[in-house]
This record gives sequence, structure tokens and C-alpha cells, in this order.
Amino acid sequence: WWRHVEPAAKDPILGVTEAFLADSHPDKVNVGVGAYRDDDGKPVVLECVREAERRITGNMNMEYLPMGGSVSMIHETLKLAYGEDSDLIKDKRIAAVQALSGTGACRLFADFQKRFSPDPQICIPVPTWSNHHNIWRDARVPQKTFHYYHPDSRGLDFSAMMDDIKNAPNGSFFLLHACAHNPTGVDPTEEQWKEISQQFKVKGHFPFFDMAYQGFASGDPERDAKSIRIFLEDGHLIGCAQSYAKNMGLYGQRIGCLSVVCEDEKQAVAVKSQLQQLARPMYSNPPVHGALIVSTILGDQNLKQLWLEEVKGMANRIIGMRTALRDNLENLGSPLSWEHITKQIGMFCYSGMTPEQVDLLTKQYHIYMTRNGRISMAGVTTGNVGYLANAIHQVTK
Ligand code: LMR
Repeated sequence: WWRHVEPAAKDPILGVTEAFLADSHPDKVNVGVGAYRDDDGKPVVLECVREAERRITGNMNMEYLPMGGSVSMIHETLKLAYGEDSDLIKDKRIAAVQALSGTGACRLFADFQKRFSPDPQICIPVPTWSNHHNIWRDARVPQKTFHYYHPDSRGLDFSAMMDDIKNAPNGSFFLLHACAHNPTGVDPTEEQWKEISQQFKVKGHFPFFDMAYQGFASGDPERDAKSIRIFLEDGHLIGCAQSYAKNMGLYGQRIGCLSVVCEDEKQAVAVKSQLQQLARPMYSNPPVHGALIVSTILGDQNLKQLWLEEVKGMANRIIGMRTALRDNLENLGSPLSWEHITKQIGMFCYSGMTPEQVDLLTKQYHIYMTRNGRISMAGVTTGNVGYLANAIHQVTK
């Protein structure tokens, strides 16, 4: 039956983790996958999560969740994206379902798009998270790219991006990173978001926000939702993928949410029912444990406060490592500019290193990262930053 099946290409991000795990060198460093580590390089379970687990233990059953997932988790999650006092929530205009983290939310939306608006393409920024391409490809939605990153300035190519938005066929779908763009760490300013939103209005484009890093851009989830709020103020109907992998450290729990803003409650009921119908033949209903952790934390003022402090703590450790990496490179006498390490935000630094330089880092120094030159700053520690800086200096000088 399966003689014609060739091995699949390795995933450009998760394949790096596999290679790292297979390496037995004592000095190996993993700055590939975007997964937060403490300053000893260890995975972190947040205190608010530990406390939520204590409260849940003994108090839960293992029943199915509804097809759309946990109602209380969804309610709390929508408040994070749309605002505590959002009229859209009050007016029940948002169709929302629990999703298998950000990936699952994007995939569900892509399938929904294909089923109910099959003609328009999805416009995806260059570069983007590699899995975005897989998700919309497997949903059989035609893809087009739009300019985003400017390699020379290592910042946003705003004018080219605006041109692409203007030139795309009216009513195109656009994938936007709500904050802490992956892989570049470059976000539009508030003023630029306003211009983008205005242009979307003129063209009738549909904005789909992937918000995988809420809290990691500024340390404050509320501030990181600014892009979305700007679009909402302008009256856009948006879609949004949310994930608790990074900001609650719930990577393996696969917990997130997909929401679609509708014209009224009736439409939201219809859209939600269709999202559930898409989920049913794929995984029937989502897992219960992560949803309980999230609703326990966000439903309790004290635990929510603790969470906000812990998110800030993670974001601040990363900011500290950005400064340390840049200082180390400059102290080594690197003739190159490393200003972008501290200018970029979120979990990643888009270093500008070439795939060949990355290969050398891996071969000679056992440093693992994606070949696009992205460094996961969350894997940089006081203990490895000197080693990392020296290796980068050696391969780039
Ligand atoms: C990443 O970009 O490293 C993360 O989003 C993890 C993943 O699933 O790719």
C-alpha cells in the first residue's frame, strides 16, 4: 500500500528541536523553538498554573467538553483580545470556539474560510511563521505574499506593505501578527496600524490576526492587543487566533481560541455552529485540562494578577538577554551592527545571519536555531550568552 510514500521534509522549527535532542555535546544550546526557559535553561511552569492545578485536582471529572469547548475559558479569553468592557462581547457578536492552541485556531479558520468564502486568497507576510504556509496550503486556500520586513533596515517595510495592501484584489484575506511578529520581532507602530486599518476599510479586506504572543511584546497583554483594538474601533469584522502556549507556558496543553466577529448575534450563532461542525469530524471536541487551568486563573482576580506579573517577568528576562547578547557581541569587537537585537521585540531576534552561517553555528558550536537566522531569545541565559555571542562573532566576522 505505502511503497510510494517518501519521508516528509523535516519541519524547519520542530526539526531543529529533534536535532538538538539527538546531540550529546555538553555545551549544546537550543535557540530554535520559541519556548520559554528560565535563566538556568529549564522549562517553566508558572506559579499561577501550579496554583490552578492544585485547585483543579480532585475537583474535575473527565467528561467531554461541548464541541465548541469551555464556555468560561472562551469568555475570559475574549476579554483579553477584545477588552474587558467590549460591546462586541456584551452584544454576543463574536463567534468563538476553543481551539488546539494557535495552530488549531488558524487551521479551523482556514477551513472555515475555504468552506464559506472559497474565492479570495490569503495574503501572508514575508517572512512569517513557517507553519502558516502549511496551514493554509492544507486548507487549500490560495496564498499570496505581501512585503513586511526590510532586510537592510532590519525593520518594517511599511511603504511596500501599504502598496501590497492597496494592490491586492478588493476583499482579500490578510494574515496579520497582532504583536511580537514571528520571526522578525518587528511590529508596526500604533500610527502605522491606524493607517493599515484605514486602508483595509478602503479595500474591504478581511483582517485575520494571529495573536500567539500576547504579553511578550510589551510585557502587558492589554497593551499588546492594541492592533486589534484599532481595527475594532474602525468597525472591522475580524478573525483572531489566540494561544496560551507562550503567555501561560501551556505549550503541551494545546489550549487556545478562535474568534470571528459577526454583524449581529444571529450571525454569530450561525458561524459558531459551523466552526463546531468543522471541529467535529477532526477531533470531535477539545481537551478539557488546559481549558480548566485557563478559566481557573483568569476567573480569579488574585490568580490573574499573579499571571500578569509572571508574564511581565518572562518578557523582562528576554529583554535583559537582548541587551546581554548585544553587549557581548560589541565587546568582542564585532564590526557589524547588532542594534536590531535590542530594537526587535517579543521572543525572537531576526539576526540577519545566513543559512550557511547558521549551519556553521550548529556544526562547530552545537548551537541549534532555524536556518532563517531566527534566534529564540527565550533560550538565551546568563550561562550561555557569552558562548553564543562568541560563536556568532566567529561565524559572522
Ligand atoms: C515557534 O515559532 O518556534 C513556535 O511557534 C513553535 C512552533 O510550533 O513552531
